[in-house]
Amino acid sequence: MSETPQIRILSGIQPSGIQHLGNYYGAMAQHIALQDQGQAFYFIADYHALTTVQDRGSLSQLVRDVALDYLALGLDPSKCLLYRQSDVPEVTELTWLLSTVTGMGLLERAHSYKDKTAKGIKSRAGLFFYPVLMAADILAYRSDVVPVGKDQVQHIEMTQDMVQAFHAAYDCEVFSRPEARLAGAGALVPGVDGQKMSKSYGNTIEIFAQGKALKKKVMSIVTDSLGVDDAKDPEACTIYQLYQLVADAQAAAEMAAQLKAGGYGYGDAKKALLAAITEAFAEARERRAVLAADQDMLEDILVAGAAKARREAQEVVGAAREAVGMASGPGLRPAP
Ligand code: ADP
Ligand code: TRP
Repeated sequence: MSETPQIRILSGIQPSGIQHLGNYYGAMAQHIALQDQGQAFYFIADYHALTTVQDRGSLSQLVRDVALDYLALGLDPSKCLLYRQSDVPEVTELTWLLSTVTGMGLLERAHSYKDKTAKGIKSRAGLFFYPVLMAADILAYRSDVVPVGKDQVQHIEMTQDMVQAFHAAYDCEVFSRPEARLAGAGALVPGVDGQKMSKSYGNTIEIFAQGKALKKKVMSIVTDSLGVDDAKDPEACTIYQLYQLVADAQAAAEMAAQLKAGGYGYGDAKKALLAAITEAFAEARERRAVLAADQDMLEDILVAGAAKARREAQEVVGAAREAVGMASGPGLRPAP
């Protein structure tokens, strides 16, 4: 009996700093869960990071930090591949091949480029070209499903356009057509000020914060001015919004009931949230410390992931090279 082919799941993670609860509940938790549902490829997008962070000293540490976070939180390298984007150079080669069929108009419509330049990020060619590199990331591994945040969905649509353009231009069928899947529950995780939690807003609670630092963050969550005795609306309460993500369903229902009933203050709710965060990530925190102490092991995982991913990329990029009229590998001659 032939085995059902597994779906290929792929996503890239920017090494953009310390990961927070928004990243975890909005993306990482789903990435980790998906490793059991298909062949998952996850890479740390260091080439992409160069469009915004140009700091030789911190790049490799940022890459390691994200890898450690994922592994500590349950990503299992025996079930999926975890690798550095730049360890598979075929991806940049494919970026060029795709660029030759990509209309300028398509790239000019990218929201993400416009948003980033509006925020003051310098408009360099790499930033403009970002979606072509992202398409190559996806297509080099024949990915079927790409779990991403809402802001990235347009990039997947652009990838679909590039597939069509390449197949039409070279009369071939080299790539799979990827589909975006919205990562996370959909709702945005609020930060301590009630806005979307984001590194760029300075309102985050880090996944691995602990002790005084964690307490300070939780205690700083902004609330309205209702007193202890007043009845409160859990849906309008940032503490509860975070608590229901971190605590189990029963504990969350209890907090909601207590808030609605009155006689339960925001200070009480903050204490409960602090305990819940400490407990929810206790095991992962220990695992992270163990992993962080063994840099060689981490490097081995990334290198082994890249070696497997690269074999796949070489095959696909080889087929793309042939499609445009080149040999399937650089300098390859048929065996004598
Ligand atoms: P940040 O805004 O902190 O820079 P990123 O843009 O690097 O975060 O996001 C990485 C992933 O985490 C994306 O998939 C994004 O959709 C998700 N994410 C980030 N913040 C939140 C949030 N507050 N709620 C839900 N998901 C989030
Ligand atoms: N651009 C994505 C982000 O900012 C990261 C990324 C790079 C990615 N390449 C990818 C995501 C390929 C999915 C597939 O979050």
